[in-house]
Amino acid sequence: MTATNRVLAHIGTRYPIVQAPMGWIARSQLASAVSRAGGLGVIETSSGETENCKAEIAKMTALGLPFGVNLPIRFLKDDAMLRFVCDSGVRFVTTSAGSPAKFVKPLQDAGITVYHAVPTVDAALKCVDAGIDGLVVEGAEGGGFKNPEEVSTLVLLQAIRAKVDVPLIAAGGICDGRGMAAAFALGAEGIQMGSRFVSSAESPVHVNYKNAMVNAKETGTWVLNKKSTPCIRSLKSQRTQAIYDEGLMPPDALAGIQRLYFDGDMEAAPALAGQTVGLIDEIKTAQQIIDDTVAQFFEITARMGRLAQARSFG
Ligand SMILES: Cc1cc2nc3c(=O)[nH]c(=O)nc-3n(C[C@H](O)[C@H](O)[C@H](O)COP(=O)(O)O)c2cc1C
Repeated sequence: MTATNRVLAHIGTRYPIVQAPMGWIARSQLASAVSRAGGLGVIETSSGETENCKAEIAKMTALGLPFGVNLPIRFLKDDAMLRFVCDSGVRFVTTSAGSPAKFVKPLQDAGITVYHAVPTVDAALKCVDAGIDGLVVEGAEGGGFKNPEEVSTLVLLQAIRAKVDVPLIAAGGICDGRGMAAAFALGAEGIQMGSRFVSSAESPVHVNYKNAMVNAKETGTWVLNKKSTPCIRSLKSQRTQAIYDEGLMPPDALAGIQRLYFDGDMEAAPALAGQTVGLIDEIKTAQQIIDDTVAQFFEITARMGRLAQARSFG
């Protein structure tokens, strides 16, 4: 059967499952585990650690696995990382945080497929005008930096699908085959998972962080700093309770993020995480996550197919 999934054609993997870019976390230890398991590992550059990120890209290239790179436009100090990526042999880039207009052409001229992460229909339309190859549609359920005008993945996917023809990768609130099947029903051809992979066995973060995610309920996160920037979704904690009550986040609130990520000090900074923490109840390997997601996706779509064939609601 001829493959018609455009995301798969673009990312060159076995499954249309992408590991989200996450500062310091989305490096070769995690990305290689995801790519080996048939998904697409993505290397971050949002940490701003240019030399370390270049070394991580070189490591992934040396492994010969498919992978992508994220360029968070607003956080790039200059065009050094853009130039490096264009010359690196990378085939797939996601851009985020800012307008991709100036990035699309140089990346495409270097033979790279470019998807941009969008939180609204207006942003999606601008990207299509700029010649983007596809979109990462990021709903408000997701962890990390957020648009303060929260639109759920459920609504955002439908709204964007109705207006644009480019392939869509759904992100925010997806951590298993149920979420994947739902995203496909709404018009996505791929999914991206952040929180699910932060809590994976191969994720480099401290076990305290993984356990906090496993133990949290679906109500265990909140969106902070909606009236300023960055607006983020993170786990509830004493520290984030204070920020929530205050309504504003001190400018240095994320300064301790590496102590949180790697030393396990859960009060050192807001612990970025999405609402799927309420669905994640064990630490799994990247392989288990991807195998379980794919198996559940096909169980659900098979059931749906039977319903359609019988013209029955079950
Ligand atoms: C711990 C964590 C760190 C993140 N850091 C970044 C980042 O540095 N850059 C970025 O573009 N997105 C970042 N994100 C957002 C993810 O790329 C992704 O869009 C989001 O996690 C998807 O939603 P999910 O958490 O429900 O899977 C982060 C998310 C998490 C959970």
